[in-house]
Amino acid sequence: MNITIVGGTGFVGRALIGQWERFSPGGWIRVLSRRKPGKPLPANAEWLAGSIMDPESLSRALEGADAVFHLTGILAETRTQTYEKIHVEGTRNLIERAKALGVRRAVYVSAIGASRDAVSRYHRTKFQAEDLFRWSGLDVTTFRPSVIFGPGDRFVSLFAAMGKKFHVLPVIGPGTNRIHPVYVGDLARAMALSAERPETIGRTYSIGGPRIYTYRELMETFIASLHLKALILPQPPALLGLGATLQEWILPVPFLTREMIKMALEDNIAMPNDLSLSFNLNPMGLEAYLESDLYRRPAP
Ligand SMILES: NC(=O)c1ccc[n+]([C@@H]2O[C@H](COP(=O)([O-])OP(=O)(O)OC[C@H]3O[C@@H](n4cnc5c(N)ncnc54)[C@H](OP(=O)(O)O)[C@@H]3O)[C@@H](O)[C@H]2O)c1
Repeated sequence: MNITIVGGTGFVGRALIGQWERFSPGGWIRVLSRRKPGKPLPANAEWLAGSIMDPESLSRALEGADAVFHLTGILAETRTQTYEKIHVEGTRNLIERAKALGVRRAVYVSAIGASRDAVSRYHRTKFQAEDLFRWSGLDVTTFRPSVIFGPGDRFVSLFAAMGKKFHVLPVIGPGTNRIHPVYVGDLARAMALSAERPETIGRTYSIGGPRIYTYRELMETFIASLHLKALILPQPPALLGLGATLQEWILPVPFLTREMIKMALEDNIAMPNDLSLSFNLNPMGLEAYLESDLYRRPAP
């Protein structure tokens, strides 16, 4: 099977390429992104420079593919990349080009919390993208993961760095909201499997790991598994909101935005968890990952 991965140089994309190499040999992999991959791709993979906002580069990337994986998504908006542009307009472009070129099979990565009337625009635009696929006539499978961890992630790296350098781990509000971290290799494996399973067409899968944590429990896990000497510090959302507003003004790509705060104040859990239920996988736990060699491995 020949596949195109739009947004394939990122964290999930690199894991997907790894899984595809291991379990689905044969065929080529074409990866589209704006920036060159940081590390060489496998021999059967090629990188094309382009953007989901540019139909011409999308056409070049999709030509001759049997399936497209759509991984382009942003958490922090910038002046040129907004949720509406990347999630909605970009998905519309991709669907239009895929249909024109006869690429019928698509796998889309959305997010837990995607819904028409979600509090955050991130989740609303993810839902709009899902909806575009739903009515596209393409054979689409949608994945909604909770927060994802693994080599090259931003999630664990950020908290680990804070704990090590500043000896503080912040939680937003009381830290009672729940989160369901999933290992990137498990998500990538389910995605790779789905491309070859016709019964996954038209389905939307919620994806989480083996354990649900409150934010406070998550920070306690980081402290225990990474041997951090750090204090858990509850932060009033309004105060963090001020910091986020400042970052949005000053930084080209902010670490924390007001949209991220809205999302962190909601539960983010896979119910039911399709990783085990629908794909029969035994997901890796966060503790097992943090305490294994995998955690110390450089990003692929
Ligand atoms: N990581 C998580 O915890 C998490 C949780 C839930 C859902 N998701 C979703 O999973 C998907 C993959 O996430 P990720 O963590 O792998 O993100 P990532 O590491 O930021 O990778 C994003 C990829 O998209 C590419 N990209 C960005 N703008 C683009 C554009 N205009 N045209 C073409 N490619 C573009 C990036 O490359 P360039 O910047 O070089 O173009 C990169 O290859 C996203 O849709 C995200 O919303 C992630």
